[in-house]
Amino acid sequence: MKSIKIKDLSFAYQLGNSIFTNASLELPFNEITFLNGANGSGKTTLCRILSGLEKGYTGFININDLDLKPVSFTERAKSIIYLKQEPLSNIVAATPEEDLALWQHGFDKHYDESSSELRERVMERLRINDLKDKPFWELSGGQIKRIGLAALLINYDKYWILDEPISGLDNTLIRIFIEILEERKALGKGCLIISHKEDYFVNLIDKNYFIENKKIESLPRGTFEKI
Ligand SMILES: Nc1ncnc2c1ncn2[C@@H]1O[C@H](COP(=O)(O)OP(=O)(O)OP(=O)(O)O)[C@@H](O)[C@H]1O
Ligand SMILES: [Mg+2]
Repeated sequence: MKSIKIKDLSFAYQLGNSIFTNASLELPFNEITFLNGANGSGKTTLCRILSGLEKGYTGFININDLDLKPVSFTERAKSIIYLKQEPLSNIVAATPEEDLALWQHGFDKHYDESSSELRERVMERLRINDLKDKPFWELSGGQIKRIGLAALLINYDKYWILDEPISGLDNTLIRIFIEILEERKALGKGCLIISHKEDYFVNLIDKNYFIENKKIESLPRGTFEKI
């Protein structure tokens, strides 16, 4: 089974102000890994490093034996999808329909019309089909968040890196999203979940970590926070 192996990771945005020093973590593609930590501890930074947006780290990040350092964001995106914490930053087009078509087909404009069936199904599942042709600037925060989740469903088979995936969602949508994670888990598809709301995920989690003092620490099953 594939996994992302992070070993001895050190990173600083500014010299002398490190976010990680010699942090290590393994993310198996068939497991659900949960990561928490205080505001500002480096969770989003880790996502940015894994997705290829930040390259100035030392240490090793591999997928199996492949060193990810020279691999571009676009190339990584073939096997990893990163849901950003800030909902609007997941949006790549003007309307939900256009956004999902772009996730599905890239810039190829000559795609088969039958591909809309997948987009319809995804939007129906996330209760956003009535919004599909609305411009984003007319949507609410939670509605925009749902479009980001829809892009995940278009990329169903990839490894999902989820930075605060349920913040801003109502209870119905949280339930639907948890069901989706359960279904994927049953198919052997895992993800990294970063959240401050561990109660929702407790039955799904295989391994549980916490960022503290610039390190990533493993926590025993069922415990979530170091007090
Ligand atoms: N582009 C940047 N340049 C400089 N410093 C940054 C940058 N982005 C984040 N930081 C700093 O790095 C630290 C880690 O930020 P990060 O966003 O990774 O935290 P986080 O754990 O995701 O927090 P939260 O729970 O609030 O989302 C913070 O102190 C933040 O101010
Ligand atoms: Mg963050």
